Amino acid sequence: MVRRSVIAGCGGYLPNRVVTNEELADRIDTSNEWIVQRTGIKSRHIAEEDQNTSDLALAAAKQALNHASIEASEVDLIVLATATPNNTFPSTATMVQAALGMTRGSAFDVQAVCSGFVFAMNVADNFIRLGQAETVLVVGAETFSRILDWKDRTTCVLFGDGAGAVVLRAEEGTGESSDRGILANCIHSDGRHYGLLYVDGGASTTQTVGHLRMDGPEVFKHAVKNLSSVIGEVLELAGLQSKDVDWLVPHQANQRIITSTARKLRVDEKKIVMTVDRHANTSAASIPLALNTAVQDGRITAGDVVVLEAMGGGFTWGASVIRW
Ligand code: ACO
Repeated sequence: MVRRSVIAGCGGYLPNRVVTNEELADRIDTSNEWIVQRTGIKSRHIAEEDQNTSDLALAAAKQALNHASIEASEVDLIVLATATPNNTFPSTATMVQAALGMTRGSAFDVQAVCSGFVFAMNVADNFIRLGQAETVLVVGAETFSRILDWKDRTTCVLFGDGAGAVVLRAEEGTGESSDRGILANCIHSDGRHYGLLYVDGGASTTQTVGHLRMDGPEVFKHAVKNLSSVIGEVLELAGLQSKDVDWLVPHQANQRIITSTARKLRVDEKKIVMTVDRHANTSAASIPLALNTAVQDGRITAGDVVVLEAMGGGFTWGASVIRW
């Protein structure tokens, strides 16, 4: 027998304020046509001034706990992925812990930018497999609007704010690929690519928060190569093949990256969960937001093989295979 991490519930939260491509085109030199054609993005949600990453995270976390019918007091660990924490310290995870009324267990943040949710799932799954936790809340939450240079049309049109969460619970499995829960995870990083996607500020360097800078075309090339390779790798670890995948739930950065990756793996486009049109790239929040959408609308059902994949600054990239 082996311990498996089963997804007991999921949730998502998007701030009320919607900013359309047309609204952006009124402010900077861009157009709805350019953005839709290059990225598939139609609108994004932007947090109110008094809404912080922890507020978005809390809303998604509450929904996930409610969906799982689990009380916050039962949670042993919160792993929260974010590149836009409320403060340099303490972690945003501890703020969510306090807001949920959790007075036991532990909570910490994981930083892997857009791959943050996959990295957080990997960390949480390891805690469960080792018997260090029974119930883990995994959250991806971001307020990227705060680190965008709103005068830089090559980046500001691509991102949005949001949060998503899942509750993982320990369950006994046989060790076979027919088990429910997380079957395999795979994460990578390569710090040599710092200059292609980074924020030009920070506590130790400029003592400012800074702005996101990106060489979009270069990131695009690396993304398709790394994502298709890591999906192949994680499926092999799980003893599965591309044809076994029921749902691909990718990091929602760009429709063209997603479809190019799926094509390379020969995964039918009908099996892709795509929500990037509605909320743009919400970094670590995008996978749980997409996952929540497909669970709530009934697409993902018991027994389905679900693949999560992401790539982000660092570079970082990774994938997980889950049997629902
Ligand atoms: N509106 C209008 N024109 C624009 C805009 C804009 N918002 N942004 C750039 N352009 C112009 C450029 O200035 C350029 O003009 P020029 O030919 O006169 O010089 C032209 O459009 C083409 O620019 P490219 O950068 O070559 O356009 P490309 O087709 O590569 O699309 C994009 C750019 C969408 C950023 C693409 O490279 C991309 O999606 N890259 C991946 C980036 C990404 O998703 N990063 C997210 C983080 S990492 C991750 O999550 C995977």
